[in-house]
Amino acid sequence: MQESSRPRALWGSRIGFILAAAGSAVGLGNIWKFPYITGNNGGGAFVLVYLVCIALVGLPIMIAELMIGRHTQRDAVGAFISLAGRRSPWQLAGWVSILAAFVILSYYSVVAGWTLDYILRALQGTFTAAAGTDAGQTAEHITALFGGLIENGSRQLIWHCIFISLCLGIVIGGVQKGIERWSKILMPVLLGLLILLFVNGMLSDGARQAIAFMFRPDFHKLTSGAVLEALGHAFFTLSLGMAAMITYGSYLSRKDDLFGSGLRIALLDTGIALMAGLAIFPIVFSAGMQPGAGPGLVFQTIPVVFSSLPGGNILALLFFLLLAFAALTSAISLLESQVAYLIDERGWGRKRATVCLASLAFVVGIPSALSSNVLRQVTPIADLGVFDSIDLIASNYLLPISGLLTALYVGWFWSGQEEKGELLAGGSGWIYPTWHFLIRFVAPVAVGAILYYKIEETGLFTLIKNLF
Ligand code: PHE
Repeated sequence: MQESSRPRALWGSRIGFILAAAGSAVGLGNIWKFPYITGNNGGGAFVLVYLVCIALVGLPIMIAELMIGRHTQRDAVGAFISLAGRRSPWQLAGWVSILAAFVILSYYSVVAGWTLDYILRALQGTFTAAAGTDAGQTAEHITALFGGLIENGSRQLIWHCIFISLCLGIVIGGVQKGIERWSKILMPVLLGLLILLFVNGMLSDGARQAIAFMFRPDFHKLTSGAVLEALGHAFFTLSLGMAAMITYGSYLSRKDDLFGSGLRIALLDTGIALMAGLAIFPIVFSAGMQPGAGPGLVFQTIPVVFSSLPGGNILALLFFLLLAFAALTSAISLLESQVAYLIDERGWGRKRATVCLASLAFVVGIPSALSSNVLRQVTPIADLGVFDSIDLIASNYLLPISGLLTALYVGWFWSGQEEKGELLAGGSGWIYPTWHFLIRFVAPVAVGAILYYKIEETGLFTLIKNLF
């Protein structure tokens, strides 16, 4: 194994690592995407399938990624080179995952920028129920805000730039003084905000309906597309296939319990997604609105609802702060995964690597920021055009490809002794047979199925057509 001459950066504490990794996992996926895909797919049964996917596919792959990182103490590309050899095709898994991190960061930051815009608006009191105007007018006004924002390229670019700069500011500080320190501040605040909004949701009139919607499964509503979407989302929400968990795992000390940590991260991530649903759906129902509003749920429906409630402007402020913090701790893991590559494999200094990659992410995100306004002319608001296409390439192709390669390598080609050693080191060797079975058979079949159906369903041709 090639060892770098510099001592490897390590997490300062186990809780610091868990908060950072949970910070990566908990993101727009939990608070923006999970509620709207649950809404679109009819609720209960979808949630159940999603939980099964997390337990049987997501968690085993997460443990595999942490294991690869910790064992090799390198970035995602270097990790596969160090395991399988410089000429081995397995390093493709690392490359694809870093490419995914790169592509995703560029548009993730644009959406994250919208949350900053909404924070500013809340500070300006935009979501206050204006006395004298009727509810219909307020709703129209708030709905138009989102359309106005995605039509306004320069406004989006400014927010995109600010958001990337925030990521840069954190990642440049390094593992302990940047990522870990900020995760320890942002994650507890995020949890606090979510608890407030959750309690608010539970106290509102729509609570019962929301609980029934999310937890009473109606299997008639479950389509095979929904199962695949649940599986794909389990992947995205746990930050798998994007180099993030390999990179964060590489800063773990040899003694840490990988299974215990992975389990805590997955539980936090899942718990937070469910709480986000239970914070959002009750107020959607109590306002008599529909849960299946698509991507506009968080940026259109929710603000409309807030603006009709007394004190709604404060709720809106808390909600968008929550969303922004969640996005920030995720985006830094995407940036860090790329930075780690330049540091470990190319010998760059952290400052230079961070500044270059953040600038590049900004530039590559420009089309995403500008395109939605062009495409909006021909597509309805809920369909974000180029966004969808990029999200499609990344989540439907790149993530499953790297996930599949990772599961195959770990399940079939890596030495069982070394894997067992990694689990034993933290005292959870007992889980080895179960984990090994899941990673060997269940994960590759499930991830292979996503890939197969997605390729069949979308076809490369449609994809290219969408892009141009
Ligand atoms: N897990 C994040 C979310 O749910 C997305 C993400 C993926 C972030 C990979 C970092 C790395 O939004």
